[in-house]
Amino acid sequence: MADVKKIAVLGGDGIGPEVVGEALKVLKKTEELFGYQFETEHGLFGGIAIDEKGTPLPQETLEICQKADAVLLGAVGGPKWDNNSKELRPETGLLGIRKALGLFSNIRPANVFDCLKEASTLKPEVLEGTDLIVVRELTGGIYFGEKFRRETANGEEAVDTCAYNVQEVERIVRQAFEIAQTRRKKLASVDKANVLETSRLWREVVNRIAPEYPDVELEHVLVDNCAMQLLRRPSSFDVIVTENMFGDILSDEAAMLTGSIGMLSSASLGEGSFGLYEPVHGSAPDIAGQGISNPIATILSVALMFRLTFGYHEAAQRIEDAVKSVLDAGHRTGDIAVDKSKAIGTSAMGDLIVAAMGN
Ligand code: IPM
Ligand code: MG
Repeated sequence: MADVKKIAVLGGDGIGPEVVGEALKVLKKTEELFGYQFETEHGLFGGIAIDEKGTPLPQETLEICQKADAVLLGAVGGPKWDNNSKELRPETGLLGIRKALGLFSNIRPANVFDCLKEASTLKPEVLEGTDLIVVRELTGGIYFGEKFRRETANGEEAVDTCAYNVQEVERIVRQAFEIAQTRRKKLASVDKANVLETSRLWREVVNRIAPEYPDVELEHVLVDNCAMQLLRRPSSFDVIVTENMFGDILSDEAAMLTGSIGMLSSASLGEGSFGLYEPVHGSAPDIAGQGISNPIATILSVALMFRLTFGYHEAAQRIEDAVKSVLDAGHRTGDIAVDKSKAIGTSAMGDLIVAAMGN
């Protein structure tokens, strides 16, 4: 009996559905090439779900995800929903799905594609060799702590609480150590231990478990310094582990220094092999529907899914090699093209990658 893998597909908003469409072509090609079987089920998520179901994360969408082995997500959000109340915002759906599926770890690789070096704002010699992963805690901290407003003598006050318990820190830090062991064996734990109590607990936990990973070289970096060092010596980082909010900010910075945000994939993982995979970029409402978006980040998210959830390493490599060969041959979508007049469209890029995967 063939092993049928179930994938929940959430196209979302803006360019989400079009980039996911190209990723599904790649998925189909791997069925032909490697004999895999995938069963995909689509769900409404984000702004489109607000419009059609009155909530960004409908129960039936959550159930589709819960039944699946992995989730492929496009992107959510857009100006249409920006002024909505909190319950009716696409971002609320994103936070909700992370929590509901127990996805406590967000993995965002930021590596420089040699042929795209010219697209970065950093000097090539600073960028040389940059290949890092930000491991961001995703279901705790200030994002999920108690929030409220209250009246004070000085008028209205808003409160967001940042809380972490030992177990939450331990599981993400262990995962980061394990990832570092498969790479260059360097881990930077980022915190603000000179100010925040949650950071002091974080650092204590990191120091307590570090001896279990003697092969990994550990450094503690304060978050403001880390923001600086990412621009000064990006290639010296291997794995960065940090809490939710710091990770949100640093992962955008790390993505941008590669000059290729349209190329970066991400994984959100919990316990076990289940994962949610999505491009790092957003829904780009300004270019949605024009067929000019870059599908590569989403296609590479399929490769990441193959590696981390299914253990289909050969197929993952095939996808990554195909992307590289298409780029090496000079094909570019508008976001990464130096000569914009030669840029190709979303589906042309998807087709070239499928063709480059071979027969
Ligand atoms: C991200 C995004 C989200 C976050 C927003 C849209 C809620 O910025 O995935 O990094 O802050 O986590
Ligand atoms: Mg973010």
